[in-house]
Amino acid sequence: MSAAKKEYKRVTTKSLVDMKKNGEKISMLTAYDYTMAKIVDGSGVDVILVGDSASNVMAGHETTLPITLDQMIYHASSVVRAINRALVVVDIPFGSYQSDPKEALRSAIRIMKESGAHAIKVEGGKEIKESIKRILNAGIPVMGHLGLTPQSIYKFGTYTVRAKEKEEAEKLINDAKLLEKLGCFAVVLEKIPADLAKEVAESISIPVIGIGAGNGVDGQVLVLHDMIGMTHEFNPRFLRRYMNLYEDMTSSISQYVSDVKAVDFPSDKEQY
Ligand code: KIV
Repeated sequence: MSAAKKEYKRVTTKSLVDMKKNGEKISMLTAYDYTMAKIVDGSGVDVILVGDSASNVMAGHETTLPITLDQMIYHASSVVRAINRALVVVDIPFGSYQSDPKEALRSAIRIMKESGAHAIKVEGGKEIKESIKRILNAGIPVMGHLGLTPQSIYKFGTYTVRAKEKEEAEKLINDAKLLEKLGCFAVVLEKIPADLAKEVAESISIPVIGIGAGNGVDGQVLVLHDMIGMTHEFNPRFLRRYMNLYEDMTSSISQYVSDVKAVDFPSDKEQY
């Protein structure tokens, strides 16, 4: 007889909106592969973002621009196979939704169909309104992303804090309200002043998830490899490192190298 399957209460887009209503903060982390996603999901994280930061973290590119739709689908399907509870949101990569709404919808459909993910994330507001509408009309949940939007890094020219000036702050507030009106279920705000992020969170009913946006928002997201300290060269003020895996792994791997060289590994007990 097969073992009874454990029941898990799945996180849905509706659960997130309810969490905001009930004042429960939302936790979100990135994951790009099966093994990490299993740990993240099993640790109780509400939302797993298959971020296009995979372009930096997994592939070593300088920006998020080079990652392709096929590569995002590969990462997303590995994550989906691992999860029992979290909502899985996938970034639509640069170049697969900006040119026209039909292409945006085709890309979103491919992600949903081929990976089994639950929602997609897009960067931008008013400029991509028609694409967002088209995706939502097909029944695909959309998470927005405003503030520092890494896919536009060559337009900004730097990764510094966004929306410090009145004009950009006003545009951001209007874009957040537009995303809510269009029917997005949540919005990420990246690297903007904490007061502005709080104002946005208080003025819309959908959850606002911050990264470098202070604690007046409805939830937080970090890149997993940064928060567990696997990366060590990226040190923005908003990052809290919960581990220092870069050092721990380096010393363990160096020890392994020494053990192999010294014919200490494998020992009698580690062979057949
Ligand atoms: O790609 C990513 O990891 C992201 C987060 C930084 C929000 O978009």
